[in-house]
Amino acid sequence: MIQNPKLREIIDGSLNNFKKEHLSENWRSFGSARLRMDSGKFLISLLQVIKPDYTMEFGSGASTQTLAAHAKKTHFAYEHVPKYWRQTVAALARNPWFNESIVYLRALNDDYMYPILPGDLPQGIQLVLIDGPPLRAPKNGKDRDRYRTLHSIMEYLSDDAIVLLDNTERESEQGILEVWKEELGIEYETHEEVRGLGIIDPWGHSV
Ligand SMILES: C[S@@+](CC[C@H](N)C(=O)[O-])C[C@H]1O[C@@H](n2cnc3c(N)ncnc32)[C@H](O)[C@@H]1O
Repeated sequence: MIQNPKLREIIDGSLNNFKKEHLSENWRSFGSARLRMDSGKFLISLLQVIKPDYTMEFGSGASTQTLAAHAKKTHFAYEHVPKYWRQTVAALARNPWFNESIVYLRALNDDYMYPILPGDLPQGIQLVLIDGPPLRAPKNGKDRDRYRTLHSIMEYLSDDAIVLLDNTERESEQGILEVWKEELGIEYETHEEVRGLGIIDPWGHSV
């Protein structure tokens, strides 16, 4: 359970708005590999409360459009499949009301990770969605596919950043949350209304 009072207020406020269905905006969805509808709506609700300058995500798709529409300055996304990179970039280009966004096309490295290059990201990222890379096969311990994603971005996160990990209904992602807790000191929670979406305070008690 997340204790940080500022994050508590943001998360509780977002959950409340989401439950009341006061959202003025629909979750844009296309294709089959997207956040669940409830998770997408919660993401919108969270964005409306945080009003972040900078956001980022691993694994592009419909979520890229939502994040790009809400990041006041820039949304950064990492994608490894050229076809989906083109699809996302084209969707963003068709919609001039999307704020500035950068979708990096990067082949996954030997660690099955999106390489983050110097200068890719600014300091002070306030919201992160980890919805990639896709699962290859069930893994144990630190070999889990998304295990390294959080380590690779910690230095860019603001003190009050919130990180979302999708697919926490899977045993592999539940294992990742536990390893992150042990190694990085994160705090996290999940909610029945947004099943499968882990909500994470990456700094845990350290703030
Ligand atoms: C879980 S998906 C990411 C979905 C994205 N975060 C969203 O909510 O829309 C992970 C990967 O699936 C691929 N993908 C993106 N759009 C897709 C689509 N419409 N159909 C199938 N795969 C897709 C991309 O390679 C992406 O990195």
